[in-house]
Amino acid sequence: MEITSSIMIILLLPLYSISSSITSIYLQTKMFQEIQTCENDNYHHPISEHQVVSQIDCSRLCTSVEECRQFMFDKQTKLCSLFEASENCFSAGDIQHKVCYRQKSICNSTKCSRCPVGYYGDQCENIIVDCRDGRDRSVVTIKKQRSYIQPSANGSVIEVLCDFKWGKTLIMRRTTLCKEVDFNRTWNEYVMGFGAIHAEYWLGLENVFNILQNFPTANVLNIILRDGYTALFQSHYRGFDISNDPNDYTVSISGFDNGTTGDSLTNGIYSINGRPFSTYDRDHTSHNCPGRFHGGWWYLDDSVCSRANLFGRRSGYTIESTCHWQDDFGLETNFTTIEMILKRWQSGP
Ligand SMILES: *[C@@H]1O[C@H](CO)[C@@H](O)[C@H](O)[C@H]1NC(C)=O
Ligand SMILES: *[C@@H]1O[C@H](CO)[C@@H](O)[C@H](O)[C@H]1NC(C)=O
Ligand SMILES: *[C@@H]1O[C@H](CO)[C@@H](O)[C@H](O)[C@H]1NC(C)=O
Ligand SMILES: *[C@@H]1O[C@H](CO)[C@@H](O)[C@H](O)[C@H]1NC(C)=O
Ligand SMILES: *[C@@H]1O[C@H](CO)[C@@H](O)[C@H](O)[C@H]1NC(C)=O
Repeated sequence: MEITSSIMIILLLPLYSISSSITSIYLQTKMFQEIQTCENDNYHHPISEHQVVSQIDCSRLCTSVEECRQFMFDKQTKLCSLFEASENCFSAGDIQHKVCYRQKSICNSTKCSRCPVGYYGDQCENIIVDCRDGRDRSVVTIKKQRSYIQPSANGSVIEVLCDFKWGKTLIMRRTTLCKEVDFNRTWNEYVMGFGAIHAEYWLGLENVFNILQNFPTANVLNIILRDGYTALFQSHYRGFDISNDPNDYTVSISGFDNGTTGDSLTNGIYSINGRPFSTYDRDHTSHNCPGRFHGGWWYLDDSVCSRANLFGRRSGYTIESTCHWQDDFGLETNFTTIEMILKRWQSGP
């Protein structure tokens, strides 16, 4: 999830030369081929697509569109696609002739009028720590989109999905609109994060830990489950926290606020409170829970493992390996969307 960039092109735009000179800087980033991209997913769709003559025209178009932060250009078909945000580009077709550029900034001699989503300040020198910080500082205009955040002052800048209207940071997202990502991963992958920002992903235990460190007592874990594309169920867990790596990212939750999902995380003897994270290569259970559930989790050291499986498969070989949530629904497995979201009770700095 780390940011990589290479070639820098600087475009001086004659369009604005009457009043002052405005500099648009674009950085070339990576092109990824996706066999099946996300369908009808607002997070992935371009703002617009245009037939243009050259790559420079494509960059000029991006500069002229207020929301544009990235463009993808097909050198063969001359198709120019503009996007609201994101580091890298994903395309279903052949990527050999496609290039991806993200906007670094648009500035005149004194001030930047456009920064990458999540950055702010006259020279885009600051960056938000999480999506709630972005909401509190009003640094964004589009309510739901991908953003850069830097949870820890000297840590890396990462990309995440944000709902800036409510200050929600999506630490995990699964949706049947996108190609399924395998959540049967190693300890190291769960620590670093995996998947793709425009599709299904897990942000990574270390990143989640760093986000939680900023406002230690104010964190809320919000779980959203969609059954079909309309029915939405959700619950809130107050005082959600995880410990650091040497302590195996042990989870603690101080309370459940009844929601429409019921409580599959802190329910009596099935409470995951105080449990370390487990993966198939670092299993803290004596019941092969990561193997049986097909993913990592804060599993109980009990043959039940957990009453929730959010990191399983869409359709597993067994009920327990299929994504499920046991309480209130009965044993519900048919989810079209699963989201784990961090929110805060208190306002930011
Ligand atoms: C630079 O841009 C800012 C806002 O975009 C504007 O207010 C300011 O007048 C511009 N300064 C110059 C010297 O053009
Ligand atoms: C970040 O790095 C700077 C300079 O190296 C240092 O002064 C500061 O204490 C560090 N901050 C944190 C939170 O580690
Ligand atoms: C699962 O949800 C999908 C989408 O709403 C629906 O078409 C399908 O019939 C459901 N399957 C079951 C077994 O409920
Ligand atoms: C929460 O529980 C209270 C009391 O049992 C009930 O009145 C309320 O409707 C519940 N709220 C939700 C969202 O389920
Ligand atoms: C998870 O992946 C490992 C390594 O590829 C494999 O050995 C194991 O069988 C997988 N587990 C499941 C439940 O598919």
